[in-house]
Amino acid sequence: MVLESGWSTVRRKLEHIEIVLSKPVEGPGTAWFEYVFLPQRALPAVEPDRVSTRVGFLGKEIAAPVMITGMTGGAPGTEAINRSLAEAACRFRIALGLGSQRAALESEQLAHTYRVARDVCPEMPIVGNIGISELVRYGPGVVNSLASMIEADAIAVHLNYFQEVVQPEGAAGMSKGLDALFRAAEVSSVPLIVKEVGFGISKEFAAELYSGGVRCIDVAGAGGTNWALVELHRALASGDLVKQYAAEGIKEVGIPTAASIIEVRNVSGEILIIGSGGVRSPYDAVKALRLGADVVGLARPVLVAYSKRNLNEFLEGFLLGMRAILASLGVSTLSEVRKAPVVVTGLLKDWIHSRGLFLW
Ligand SMILES: Cc1cc2nc3c(=O)[nH]c(=O)nc-3n(C[C@H](O)[C@H](O)[C@H](O)COP(=O)(O)O)c2cc1C
Repeated sequence: MVLESGWSTVRRKLEHIEIVLSKPVEGPGTAWFEYVFLPQRALPAVEPDRVSTRVGFLGKEIAAPVMITGMTGGAPGTEAINRSLAEAACRFRIALGLGSQRAALESEQLAHTYRVARDVCPEMPIVGNIGISELVRYGPGVVNSLASMIEADAIAVHLNYFQEVVQPEGAAGMSKGLDALFRAAEVSSVPLIVKEVGFGISKEFAAELYSGGVRCIDVAGAGGTNWALVELHRALASGDLVKQYAAEGIKEVGIPTAASIIEVRNVSGEILIIGSGGVRSPYDAVKALRLGADVVGLARPVLVAYSKRNLNEFLEGFLLGMRAILASLGVSTLSEVRKAPVVVTGLLKDWIHSRGLFLW
């Protein structure tokens, strides 16, 4: 039997998908990739199909440094979405993140809506997911139950502080989050990824995470899907005026993704960085890699392509575009991307200077 709290988790998940596909939920700012230019050769020195984009990720090899970041599971219809995403991940040999497994913690019989991904795609890295509030509530050991539920290669713990603030159901206990994260990093049987959901990670916070043993960060910066805007639409639908004002008031908060990648990379060369949040084109993706990301992540564009039934075409085109751009930069294997010429202009240049950051 699905518990009462389980139903609200399920309903919220469905509302999120509905809103993300039908309402304007991106912006108001951008991810700042427009301040980055990669001067290319008019004639590539390598053929795009000879560019090797293979890379090791979470103990497996992926064909391109791309990940579909966590979105769904646990609600009716989401098994089909996760099945399709896993088929696509397998086909293109890229990594896949699943949505929060909270629903399966509340009701075990929903586990198959996540597990389907592993059954469909045994070879690729699959990342489980839980929110920081649940980590605090269930305790650090929960990461191992979540990992074994889906044979995960890593567990992402998402930090959705601003979303929780504007969410009608809003959870407390976030101030205990850092301690819970450190304990989870210690006991986890698989790598722990600390993940934002669209507000970005600063160098100060990344340094705290690093000192507590965290080695993988998904920056999920500002400029893509904005969870203040998503929750604003839920508040509008329920007539919750206080949450509407709160969401309107904080929708501009966040570190643009391009800046967040540089911030985290400045903490250590050792951190595995997933550059995500508003990555919308192959050019954005290559810029993210040039700025310091190891892998790029996309969420909403993948869901949109799925809903239009052109997921394979979208991903194939995206990967082709990435290879073509890399070839034009003279990059024949991924390890050369950070040597490609780069020009940083405008606000991002100011940001780098005023924060004392370094770009290599
Ligand atoms: C429909 C939807 C559901 C999401 N659910 C989760 C989730 O359960 N856990 C999580 O960590 N992030 C979740 N996210 C956030 C994404 O993983 C990603 O960090 C964020 O959307 C920014 O990426 P984007 O701009 O490419 O969409 C969700 C995103 C979407 C679009």
